[in-house]
Amino acid sequence: MEESKKQSLFVAQLKDTIEEKSKRLGRPVRYHITTMGCQMNARDSEKLSGILAEIGCEEIPTEDADILLFNTCTVRENANEKLYGHLGIVKHFKKLNPDMLIGICGCMMQEKDEVLRIQKKYRFVDLVFGTHNIWKFPELLYAVEAENQRVIDTAEERNNFRDHMPARRKTWFKSGVNIMYGCNNFCTYCIVPYVRGREQSREAEDIVREVKALVADGVKEIMLLGQNVNSYRFVDGDRTYDFGDLLEQVALAVPKIRIRFTSPHPKDMDDKAIAVMAKYPNICKHIHLPAQSGNDRILKLMKRNYTREWYLERVAAIRRAMPDCAITSDIFCGFHDESEEDFQDTLSLMREVVYDNAFLFKYSERPGTYAAKYLIDNIPEEEKIRRLNEMIELQTQLSLESNLRDVGKTFEVLIEGFSKRSREQLFGRSQQNKVVVFDKQGYRVGQYVDVRIESATAATLIGKPVRPAEGYTPTAE
Ligand code: SAH
Ligand code: SF4
Ligand code: F3S
Repeated sequence: MEESKKQSLFVAQLKDTIEEKSKRLGRPVRYHITTMGCQMNARDSEKLSGILAEIGCEEIPTEDADILLFNTCTVRENANEKLYGHLGIVKHFKKLNPDMLIGICGCMMQEKDEVLRIQKKYRFVDLVFGTHNIWKFPELLYAVEAENQRVIDTAEERNNFRDHMPARRKTWFKSGVNIMYGCNNFCTYCIVPYVRGREQSREAEDIVREVKALVADGVKEIMLLGQNVNSYRFVDGDRTYDFGDLLEQVALAVPKIRIRFTSPHPKDMDDKAIAVMAKYPNICKHIHLPAQSGNDRILKLMKRNYTREWYLERVAAIRRAMPDCAITSDIFCGFHDESEEDFQDTLSLMREVVYDNAFLFKYSERPGTYAAKYLIDNIPEEEKIRRLNEMIELQTQLSLESNLRDVGKTFEVLIEGFSKRSREQLFGRSQQNKVVVFDKQGYRVGQYVDVRIESATAATLIGKPVRPAEGYTPTAE
């Protein structure tokens, strides 16, 4: 804990620096964080936000801030392009406000070439750090703010100090909780293991403590997070906790609060975790189970470590235990050598599972991966786009099919906000993670309500609230 004490000292010093700056400006020092990646990335942003709020800065919704951070993603090439797009714009903000501090962090900053490019060509960027040393943010920010240095530090430091950073949540009623970091799978196409490092699981007791504290602070739904969440494994003396054990501990610790998790790997989706999900009504009946492809040869080239048959058997096991469980997926087309027949297998897998929803992509080669070295990116761009559009079209039909099956059923919904169309309607999410829109009546954001579905589109369920629900009342018991 020596290091975290050191960081607390920097926080204390930063408070003074920020106070002085705010006096000079005659207003609070404003910050903004642009979050560009997945839920893990978003949770990291909440931790950075926690530090900035603690030192006395005020968050604003736009990028013309005094402290502007970009928390980057690099999973596909367009993620990188997006950052450079933003930088082109904020360069002008900095001309208007020379005091402005621009920082970049996150996965893309674990790529040496990108860091070099920023260092050389984007002189107006003041601070660069990575995913491994995010906990050092107070120290690095202090060096820029108080000592006027340009700081570029992306060192790989293996520890979990970030668990103890204060977090400022984007929404008061939902929170992610990291249970493990990194990934050991090295799927051939994927850059995540290179930028997030090796798997490291957090102490089970520490996780339960954090969950309870969040719930005491008003949180109504907890999302357990990890790049490969179900390979969680923590050894405590002679007791080993696997993902199923942890899930059960968390469900028991906060029985009136909904629990979710993302993303599990199909190869680790064991019967034990499925049984725990089925047993506890507060574990949301939704599994995001990324298939990536429906063809065995492609799955092997991707090094996914399962076959189509194995995957379908896991889907069947989930449905046997929980007929009402939603299953969603990540799938991408156009990987090395993917033939039309291989691609047809992906479409047929989608049809066979009838995914409730899916994130669909086209292959994007990432430098440094096995595929970039040995499996050439040989599917033409137009062909990738055609296949992607076919997947999107199919999934839209499947989502509609899945949603129409829900008409007439009642779902427990956690209310998230006003619907886009009308202030008289609210929207929330069912356990199955579907968006549900309904008449406001006397309900409020952060409440659980049972909604009976009356109609559906491919994107939304529309219904009427049937039960006033003060707090969480399990409906599945
Ligand atoms: N850990 C998660 C995935 C994290 S990345 C898992 O294994 O499920 C999120 C998704 O991005 C992946 O599931 C995959 O569908 C997609 N993806 C990853 N690398 C990609 C690449 N190089 N090109 C296109 N899509 C990719
Ligand atoms: Fe990437 Fe595969 Fe790890 Fe997921 S499991 S993060 S796709 S390497
Ligand atoms: Fe992107 Fe990093 Fe998440 S690469 S998908 S932000 S783990």
